[in-house]
Amino acid sequence: MAEPSTASTRLIGVDELGERQVSAVETPHGTLAVGLLDGEPFAVSNRCRHLFAPLGQGRVLDGCLECPWHAARFDVRTGRMTRGPQGAFKPLAGVVKGTTGARPLKTYPVTLRDGAIWLEG
Ligand code: FES
Repeated sequence: MAEPSTASTRLIGVDELGERQVSAVETPHGTLAVGLLDGEPFAVSNRCRHLFAPLGQGRVLDGCLECPWHAARFDVRTGRMTRGPQGAFKPLAGVVKGTTGARPLKTYPVTLRDGAIWLEG
């Protein structure tokens, strides 16, 4: 498998993000969840640490990236889960959050320019 390029790679236009402000994007590092939070771009691994839902189908809400399946929330700057899964999983939310804390989402360097989010390096 080829090494990712060290050049910038255009990931997605801001106007393509839609209301959810996040989308799944194919990149040299595989599929990432790419979006905007408070005007800052982010790119994180696309699989939720709970049951591997595609986070690119989630949404940005209350300063976090929220999982589309059970509404766990992630800090996109650190990749850490800030709220465990809700709904039927809510009684276990603290345990899930605690056990996944050592395995945050991987984060990737991105910039915002020319109306798009770019992967750097
Ligand atoms: S799969 Fe993400 S919270 Fe359950």
